[in-house]
Amino acid sequence: MEIISDIQEMKKVVQALKKEGRKIALVPTMGYLHEGHLTLMREGRKLADVLVISIFVNPTQFGPQEDFQRYPRDIERDQKLAEQVGVDIIFYSSAESMYPSGYRTYVEVAEWGKLLCGASRPIHFRGVCTVVLKLFNIIQPDVAIFGWKDAQQFLILRRMVKDLNLDVQMVGVETVREPDGLAMSSRNEYLSPAERRQATALYQSLCRAKELVEQGEKDCQKIIAEMKKIIETQPSAKIDYISIVSLDELKPLSEIQPDNTLIAMAVFVGSARLIDNIRL
Ligand code: PAJ
Repeated sequence: MEIISDIQEMKKVVQALKKEGRKIALVPTMGYLHEGHLTLMREGRKLADVLVISIFVNPTQFGPQEDFQRYPRDIERDQKLAEQVGVDIIFYSSAESMYPSGYRTYVEVAEWGKLLCGASRPIHFRGVCTVVLKLFNIIQPDVAIFGWKDAQQFLILRRMVKDLNLDVQMVGVETVREPDGLAMSSRNEYLSPAERRQATALYQSLCRAKELVEQGEKDCQKIIAEMKKIIETQPSAKIDYISIVSLDELKPLSEIQPDNTLIAMAVFVGSARLIDNIRL
């Protein structure tokens, strides 16, 4: 396994691989790897000849009051885990090389960037799209693998690939969870033991929503109210949003649409902003 920090060096390696006709898979990450990330990597391993991952805590997707500084980082541990799942190259660039002084260009996400997580994180998806487009340009993957854990991110990036005519196959992998249902996330690290227990309420509320739909409930407001009740029993939990939207347009739904429904939420548990979702 190789670690490449220099953008020009990465481009050279990619050029050589392309010349040999090798298929490249990319898994972009912010590091502090967990089983969710590793599952994406195993999928990438299957889909291409060369598996590249990026580890970069991207400053442009964090708001000024957010957790950029304290976001967990452990490159040595990440290297070991990446090696174990058969990663060929880690692209590990610095903020200074990705955004040198004078940097001015961003990918703007019309409408979808302001919905759901975008309402409380107004510059988030612009930062995500900008960095992912830069990574796609540097690494030129044939296929890129993302998690449905960040459903809005995946939908926005998939749309970007279509809108900007990029030749990257976009693959989504189902959310990997802890045994008690909590979606794996680098941010779970922020939770105290008591908060960690309370954090299971997110998935519990999603399961309850699914159960209600299976029992015939179609009214989204009623479902959201039931979900809120479950979250609000947890003293450290504060709801940012719970929304039921269409999967194709991200439009708020008043009634569940079979095969086209995304139930998404963000909840602060202590200082950790956790997100989760299910698709129906
Ligand atoms: P990060 O949060 O590190 O996640 C990297 C990838 O792993 C994303 O595609 C995310 O959806 C996926 N992932 C995280 N937790 C998961 C889980 N429990 N199950 C399945 N997949 C999971 O998302 C980002 O980084 C950044 O925004 C990035 C795309 C790298 C751009 O900076």
